[in-house]
Amino acid sequence: MTHHMPDVRREQTDRVRIFDTTLRDGEQSPGISLNKQEKVEIAQQLARLGVDVIEAGFPITSPGDFDSVQAIAREVEGPVICGLARTSFQDIDAAWNAIRDSERPRIHTFISTSDIHIEHQLQTTRDDVKGQARAAVAHARSYTDDVEFSPMDATRADVDFTAEVIRIALDEGATTINVPDTVGYTLPQEYAAMFEELYRLVPGLRDVVVSVHCHNDLGLAVANSFAGLGAGCRQVECAVNGIGERAGNASLEEIVMLLRTREASVGLWTAADTREIARTSRLVSRLTGYAVQPNKAIVGRNAFAHESGIHQDGVLKDRTTYEIMDATTIGLETNALVLGKHSGRHALRNALQELGFQVEGAALNTAFKRFKEIADKKKRVTALDLEAIVSDEMRQSPSAYGLEWFEVEASSTRAPLARVRVRLPGGEVVEGSFTGDGPVDAFFSAINAATGREGRLKEYHVSAVTGGRDALGEVTVLLELNGVTASGQGVSTDILEASGRAYLRALTNALADSPVAEAEHHLERASAASTPTP
Ligand code: KIV
Ligand code: ZN
Repeated sequence: MTHHMPDVRREQTDRVRIFDTTLRDGEQSPGISLNKQEKVEIAQQLARLGVDVIEAGFPITSPGDFDSVQAIAREVEGPVICGLARTSFQDIDAAWNAIRDSERPRIHTFISTSDIHIEHQLQTTRDDVKGQARAAVAHARSYTDDVEFSPMDATRADVDFTAEVIRIALDEGATTINVPDTVGYTLPQEYAAMFEELYRLVPGLRDVVVSVHCHNDLGLAVANSFAGLGAGCRQVECAVNGIGERAGNASLEEIVMLLRTREASVGLWTAADTREIARTSRLVSRLTGYAVQPNKAIVGRNAFAHESGIHQDGVLKDRTTYEIMDATTIGLETNALVLGKHSGRHALRNALQELGFQVEGAALNTAFKRFKEIADKKKRVTALDLEAIVSDEMRQSPSAYGLEWFEVEASSTRAPLARVRVRLPGGEVVEGSFTGDGPVDAFFSAINAATGREGRLKEYHVSAVTGGRDALGEVTVLLELNGVTASGQGVSTDILEASGRAYLRALTNALADSPVAEAEHHLERASAASTPTP
């Protein structure tokens, strides 16, 4: 028995589109601050995963967001690239300008239909909402024929009013109607009943793609999304690792694997390449600094582990006794030994290619140098190690701070003392030293002293890339500099070195997102619509 590909006939009408909002709703999670390069990297991986739509960001919200969406629209091929916009024309213009270079651009515009939002947040009337929805969809359609409309907070709205607004959006040419459970309040049977009612009230919904968008405040995001699919929806908005506003969005990997594993019973399918799921999850976790909980469905580190003796015994005899999915289906090949100490540049290049990285020229030389350093300390360099090193190196840019050398003295009797030598973005090398409460604290203070920057550490996480005493350590740092919060990651067999690399990368990212640009941006936006982001 295999769980790879259920033996069922696939009809286009049963295809569920995966609309990934990791870079928009997901990026709205507190403490996540991805830079342009990181967002493009995630978008490229989402394209490899085969999602249908990438919601790349909310271009009006900052020049940084605009640039990232534009870069994704220009560089990422395959999926539809979508930009979010409120109903104001400034929002829609910004979204269009950011995505217009994509081969397949989509504008997603939204306005609330619940009285709670209309009265308290928008402070307007139902009639005005109808007018705004009409104007927004018409304006978006003047740019592109792929326009999505969302009546926000629809699950707490009067369904007749939501239906009226949807009818208007359809009249103006919206091609996808997404009906969100913005606050994660609905129940599966309620959500399904709402769609049944909407299909009854607005027959035109049968001619477009209807979409679900669920938040996980009551832990029901995936269950609610699934209920919406049962009621006829054929697009799911979701985020990798379930990240997103508050408790998050529906988790992409759970939806995809739910439909794949139970395809024979459910009859719905997606075009996602499930073998890319594990890698996508690791990349998003690494770049956002959001660790995946160990028991998380599909991508948690224990999702395929068997602890009890009875279960282990069963799985050894036949995997299907206690496993409903095959780990290889999601691309989990954790302990595959890839290279040893004596492997050459050619072997490294081939291994990296197999892992989906095209590394050539100078980048290959750097990756090879790094590989040799690690292979000297570690007997077995696995696929996961290579992925971590290459992701770490790929984010190293000449305009970033670089760690040249460090020394940390720590004992149980004296305050730790750290000395560092750092390469500044211009190439100049500076030194600094400092004491601290602990070795990491001393190290970061010494970096501040050397660079003359007052970074303030907000979060620090360390994890092991693989098991074993010689495992690579991966550190994520979240810091604040001049009011800007930024994160950085570093990988090394030495936790202090990984910490230093992560801290310097976070400093670089914070400066890239500088307060000057922010201040200009706020001035620019003072006259723009004042509704907070969803
Ligand atoms: O949760 C929500 O309502 C949203 C909309 C913008 C679709 O994120
Ligand atoms: Zn949302």
